[in-house]
Amino acid sequence: MLTDRLTRWLRAGYYIAGYGRKFPFRARVERIVREWESRAGQGDAPKAQAAWDGQYARGEWDYLAGVAEISHYAVIVGYGTYLKPGGSVLDVGCGEGVLQERYLPHGYSNYVGVDISAVAVEKLKDREDERTAFVQGDAESTVPEGKFDVIVFNESLYYFEDPLAVMTRYAEVLAPDGIFLVSMFQGSRRARSVLEHVLRHHTVLDETLTTQGTRSWRCAVVRPKGA
Ligand SMILES: C[S@@+](CC[C@H](N)C(=O)[O-])C[C@H]1O[C@@H](n2cnc3c(N)ncnc32)[C@H](O)[C@@H]1O
Repeated sequence: MLTDRLTRWLRAGYYIAGYGRKFPFRARVERIVREWESRAGQGDAPKAQAAWDGQYARGEWDYLAGVAEISHYAVIVGYGTYLKPGGSVLDVGCGEGVLQERYLPHGYSNYVGVDISAVAVEKLKDREDERTAFVQGDAESTVPEGKFDVIVFNESLYYFEDPLAVMTRYAEVLAPDGIFLVSMFQGSRRARSVLEHVLRHHTVLDETLTTQGTRSWRCAVVRPKGA
């Protein structure tokens, strides 16, 4: 059994040099890292639905709608509405719908939000109309029907056990010429590594780094290689 300190070092090394790459004893290292993340309640790692529901019920994510988070939503809306004006949008890990609220004034043909948290999705039911729907579901196993011009992973991808596998599955509902918009908080080691991994496996069309106050977000526009 490794000490807590050693496991932290192992985790740091794994995300700096090993994530998404082949190396000896990889499965074992990944198991140790994931077990530690669950035990420690690591804030930037996958969590069960009950944990998300509890956080939303306690209002722990209310701050996302505040001015201090405005920049990464603005970049996503900017890319989406410039590259796919009036297009259809799938927001994976939509939370309490902050992005949909920012997107709405610019127009969309269809907006579907998916989130694992029943508490978050329940709060969005009164926003639904013939063009807007919110669905509770685990993105690791659920893909909504349809075709979408823009598929957004806004600060959600690093909460998935296998982010690249999720993107590969969601590529099936990406319209021809469609785009993925992936935003990652740069204060999270896991988020940074997941994004690098995603960039290596996709065609990168553009990206923007925003800094607001002391925090930064990197937003990439990508599509599956060969698409
Ligand atoms: C940091 S919040 C971001 C919420 C929203 N994208 C935003 O930026 O306003 C991460 C979201 O991912 C959702 N999430 C985490 N794991 C998920 C999964 N396996 N399937 C679907 N949603 C998930 C959480 O419930 C949470 O709403």
